Amino acid sequence: MSFPLIRHRRLRGNTAIRNLVREHALSVHDLIYPLFAVPGTGIREEIPSMPGVYHLSLDMLTSELDEIVELGIQGILLFGVPEHKDECGSGAYHEHGIVQEATRYIKQRHPQLLVIADTCLCQFTSHGHCGVVHHNEVLGQAEVDNDASLEFLVATAVSQAQAGADIIAPSNMMDGFVHAIRTGLDEAGFRHVPVMSYAVKYASAFYGPFREAAHSAPQFGDRRTYQMDPANVREALREAESDVVEGADFLMVKPALAYMDVIRLLKESFDLPVVAYNVSGEYSMVKAASAQGWIDEKSVVLEMLTGMKRAGADVILTYFAKDVARWLMELP
Ligand code: PBG
Ligand code: ZN
Repeated sequence: MSFPLIRHRRLRGNTAIRNLVREHALSVHDLIYPLFAVPGTGIREEIPSMPGVYHLSLDMLTSELDEIVELGIQGILLFGVPEHKDECGSGAYHEHGIVQEATRYIKQRHPQLLVIADTCLCQFTSHGHCGVVHHNEVLGQAEVDNDASLEFLVATAVSQAQAGADIIAPSNMMDGFVHAIRTGLDEAGFRHVPVMSYAVKYASAFYGPFREAAHSAPQFGDRRTYQMDPANVREALREAESDVVEGADFLMVKPALAYMDVIRLLKESFDLPVVAYNVSGEYSMVKAASAQGWIDEKSVVLEMLTGMKRAGADVILTYFAKDVARWLMELP
């Protein structure tokens, strides 16, 4: 018998065979595109560290939305960057807050486009934390007050649902937020509105460009008392488990690239859809390297996102969504 005994290359010989045996493929239906809405008019301001991503006032959202819908992208993740911030983030749950106004605007024009509202306080608080801050007398220092934060987060989720948000996506990492928000939504008559929980969210340096974009960097301390330690994976199971018990409809892992093992773990451990958030820093790195001509942007992005699918992601939140949708339409 001749050597080699096993010839893997038989299934790689040409495009048709490779297409036949391919295990995973990206679809435009997997993709969600994040948008940053700002108050005012005529604003279309590029975020310096995120080329191609803009702060948009409502009037400038129109063409962006048309483009998204034309490309076949089914959903957007909506962030608001308000003019005014205060201690308890009141802009987050104001009836006429930027997210609420943008949601109404979008749903009016594109009723079928899914609006996923990011539910957090950090863009709206003067201190930049994801909850409200109290002074801990014992420790003699300021800290994020878990239980006090919940009622503000519930108010935020309910006001987003009232404005027409299709999915509530809480990113605050307070304990008990899924239960609190689920109960609040149900009591307000929004039993049908799903919760996409940022279940496993790490305290990551990959959020750097986003915090610049959203003006949401914490003014003191950091987020490590509520976001997860990047060194932990068994803890991810505990985080996800509690969210499942509390009624989450989707489980998110964030960031994605450095946490592919966590995506796979959640996929195998639970039967809920798994969402991967390809975050701002992951976007900026690719943009910077491709601008230098050091990598091929299209190939690298498709490889990264296919990797997320292979790891187990059902949904991918990505700033590359429009590009990927365009690439998927091109003939091979
Ligand atoms: C707010 C929030 C953040 C991101 C999404 N929602 C920032 C943070 O937690 O510091 C990060 C998104 C990105 O980096 O693209 N809680
Ligand atoms: Zn936050």
